[in-house]
Amino acid sequence: METLQNILTHAHSGLRYLLLILLLVSIYTSLTKRSSDNFSSSDLKTYMFTMSFTHLQFLIGMALFFITGRYKISGEVMKDSIARFYAVEHTTLMILAVILITVGYSRCKKAQTVSAKHKAISIFFGIALVLILAGIPWPFRGLGAEWF
Ligand code: HEM
Repeated sequence: METLQNILTHAHSGLRYLLLILLLVSIYTSLTKRSSDNFSSSDLKTYMFTMSFTHLQFLIGMALFFITGRYKISGEVMKDSIARFYAVEHTTLMILAVILITVGYSRCKKAQTVSAKHKAISIFFGIALVLILAGIPWPFRGLGAEWF
């Protein structure tokens, strides 16, 4: 269980960078193509990859949450600022971000015009990016996590 937890923590930690890069590429694509008449199948693939990696990160996060068993909300956890960060802040911000990315992708697929498709990505992925940046336990926040 210890090794599985180590593997999952490293995967979860490293995947943040892939997810951040995919989000930036998606947002850049959506902003630059919004005023053009251009929505290619590779744009849709980029947006879909971004959503899929978000879902993968979500699943690994959920697994860690239950495997470590350290973050079940209790009086004890609420008193410990690091445990509270993972149990409440990290989980809430990231779940909201996952929902926004999923809704954004679905709106993009359903939208009737090229500009509405890209706009859905700019707005939903953009807000999700802000939430994810705020929810990551960056080393300078003193939450016991490293850069990788
Ligand atoms: C979707 C975007 C997410 C990103 C970018 C992200 C990123 C991270 C990072 C960078 C860490 C620190 C890992 C380390 O110790 O080096 C972490 C830890 C953790 N994350 Fe996430 N996370 C996300 C979503 C979630 C979700 C949805 C959950 C749970 C529902 C979750 C649960 C956890 C837990 C429990 C830890 C602490 C693991 C431990 O104590 O070793 N994460 N996350």
